[in-house]
Amino acid sequence: MKRNFLTMTDLGQHELAGLLRQAARHKRNRSYGKRALAGKTVALVFQKPSMRTRVAFEVAVLQLGGSVVYLGQEDIQLGQREPVRDVARALSRYVDGIVVRTFAHQNAVEFAAYARVPVINGLSDLVHPCQALADLFTLQEAFGRLPGLRVAYVGDGNNVLHSLLEGCALFGVHAAVATPARYRPDPAIWKAASRRAAAHGGSLRWEADPRRVVRDAHVVYTDVWISMGQERERARRLRTFKRYQLNRALLRRAPRGCRIMHCLPAHRGEEITDDVMEHPRSLIFDQAENRLHVQKALLMLLLGGKGSR
Ligand code: CP
Repeated sequence: MKRNFLTMTDLGQHELAGLLRQAARHKRNRSYGKRALAGKTVALVFQKPSMRTRVAFEVAVLQLGGSVVYLGQEDIQLGQREPVRDVARALSRYVDGIVVRTFAHQNAVEFAAYARVPVINGLSDLVHPCQALADLFTLQEAFGRLPGLRVAYVGDGNNVLHSLLEGCALFGVHAAVATPARYRPDPAIWKAASRRAAAHGGSLRWEADPRRVVRDAHVVYTDVWISMGQERERARRLRTFKRYQLNRALLRRAPRGCRIMHCLPAHRGEEITDDVMEHPRSLIFDQAENRLHVQKALLMLLLGGKGSR
């Protein structure tokens, strides 16, 4: 039966741990799995702009021996030219897998319900699970483990944070989140992730004050304050998030050796300062690179089939 990857909860802890091990194999050996997708085609259906997700998927498919069709919003006009379900059904008669980047998460859900082939969520307004795979892999690579790590997140309670929380919860990570009160993470995701974190020896904690979450952190993570589609809220968001900037002053409140993460693209001077972006303890470009390795592992898991290695 075909499988989708729409949220981190679509894979269990055991499977995710295996996927991270496979990603390490891909990172060590670029030729690993080079025929895994031979004869297969993956479509990228992207309603929003992308650099990392698009390039990492295109390169991943090519390195695994497959081919890619990219369909931007101007090509498909998802939901406008024809309904999502019709695009999903027609497209899956041509290709072997579909990566969808969309606004409403429901579009990804509908795509997966109607496609005959595996559907991967390349970002929706609710979650960004491919980013979280890379984030977990980067943490494991940097610290040699996940259980017991203390991850502080400062800024907007957005899709990147949601998937990060879902992933951390499965691996016994302690996540401390500082957001303005009205930009807290989605309550349903928070509740489910808290329950899962407790079952795996981790925890979730929210604070309004960013200084309180960084003080015992192994790593501080931030993301843009104005996500795609929120441009009209720009002035208000810049005012509200001002004290959540990841800068030298905030970093001084963290333990020495604290690492820095950001999923990119970054808006330097807004959520993160130039000097913190360029800090020697930054993991930011490792995260970007690791998108490729985890996405290769994900493609092999969902599309590779038996004996594909
Ligand atoms: N982090 C991330 O998803 O980057 P892109 O928007 O460039 O794909």
